[in-house]
Amino acid sequence: MNDPNGMVYYEGEYHLFYQYYPGGLQWGPMHWGHAVSTDLLHWKHLPVALEPDELGMIFSGSAVVDWNDSTGFFNGRHGLVAIYTSAGDTHQQQSIAYSLDKGRTWIKYQGNPVVPNDEIKDFRDPKVFWHEDTKQWLMVLAAGQEILFYTSPDLKEWVFASRFGEGHGAHGGVWECPDLFELPVENGAEGDTRWVLQVDIGDGAASGGSGGQYFIGSFDGQTFVNEGAPEEIRWVDYGKDFYATQSFSDIPESDGRRIWMAWMSNWQYANEVPTSPWRSAMTLPREVAIRKESDGQMKLVQYPVRELKQLAGESFAAGSYVLSSESATELCEVPEGPAVYDVLLDLSSCAAAGFCLYGTGADKGFVLKADRESGTLTADRSDMQGSDFHEKFPAVTSAPLPISDGVVELSVVLDTGSVEIFSTDGTVTMTNLVLPEKNNRYSISGFAEAGKAGATLTGRRLRSVWD
Ligand code: FRU
Repeated sequence: MNDPNGMVYYEGEYHLFYQYYPGGLQWGPMHWGHAVSTDLLHWKHLPVALEPDELGMIFSGSAVVDWNDSTGFFNGRHGLVAIYTSAGDTHQQQSIAYSLDKGRTWIKYQGNPVVPNDEIKDFRDPKVFWHEDTKQWLMVLAAGQEILFYTSPDLKEWVFASRFGEGHGAHGGVWECPDLFELPVENGAEGDTRWVLQVDIGDGAASGGSGGQYFIGSFDGQTFVNEGAPEEIRWVDYGKDFYATQSFSDIPESDGRRIWMAWMSNWQYANEVPTSPWRSAMTLPREVAIRKESDGQMKLVQYPVRELKQLAGESFAAGSYVLSSESATELCEVPEGPAVYDVLLDLSSCAAAGFCLYGTGADKGFVLKADRESGTLTADRSDMQGSDFHEKFPAVTSAPLPISDGVVELSVVLDTGSVEIFSTDGTVTMTNLVLPEKNNRYSISGFAEAGKAGATLTGRRLRSVWD
């Protein structure tokens, strides 16, 4: 599988559709796979929702609840509508389908495509939402290296509104999978909001290959205005494996959260990651917010959803240590299955310090390091076992990390094949795949460079969601 699609909350269920080729382990004729959850953690697989047709493959897109039956599909009631790209051999166009049974089966609209196109080569990944102020549907679409906005009263007839992108942000590759939503400013005045435009790029992202960037600004139902400097690039995640993120539509106002998930891979090697009989996974669901920094800049912040705490199991490591540059300090074993590590590093008496996750003694493992002088956080999987299946997989990913008073706080979620790092203020996240060997015993050790570091590490198991 690849991108998450059609993410929507409806009648007690979170729906996750996704780019899926049921016929093989590599990218092929795309369908929409389907899973549902009531708690964002435990997912139930459902049959394939959408299959290719005469208009082409079913590429990425979104889903909404048509509460007021603007489409006329629901006989005065409400229901789910999916908006997706029909990817033909030569053309990409936008189509819709609707479901009368809570997403279990889908009927494609007879009038497809609803946004025809025979000019633009890359023209895809519609994200649709209801724009309350102007009382119309909004479509955000990726076209080449731009974002196009369309409006509609009924999800069937679409009118072009505006475009955004030229001269803004990163252009290392084609733009894909946009998302747009309004958020309150976490620490702003009452009623202070901003719009977040999330845009993925197929190549040239923070750590090479595919990744996401975002813009913060205003949106009036027609035009997005970026309030940051046009040339400034803001990365969504600094790892190699966080792509095509999409947020859930229609989370009830009483909950009020904006939650997104991404596909945890990178197009550089996605088709070759040596896992079987499956390939690819989604990231943890994350709550996103915006915060005003002391310099007045608006920043996106991300945390794992609070539901994750429900999986917390026993703690297997808890201690305070002094790490030195002379030798690595063994801290604990890595248990099988998922775990979360809360880490506090005091770098005030050293240049850098960190941890080797997945150490075996024989090789370097996965090295996480905070460097006080350069103010960076790096994750290095280049010497870890299993990294050599593809030349682009061994990598050091790097993020600017504010290290105030020499102290760094991180929360690291280790699953069997991934490391998701969250800085505890939420402004930096780093997501990377890892390929540990099943029968190896791994341990975690700590180290310092040029001095001594204080470290506190708490490891807690997370119960598997598949048990
Ligand atoms: C992003 C993407 C989308 C496209 C889909 C095809 O990963 O290239 O732009 O709709 O994957 O599977």
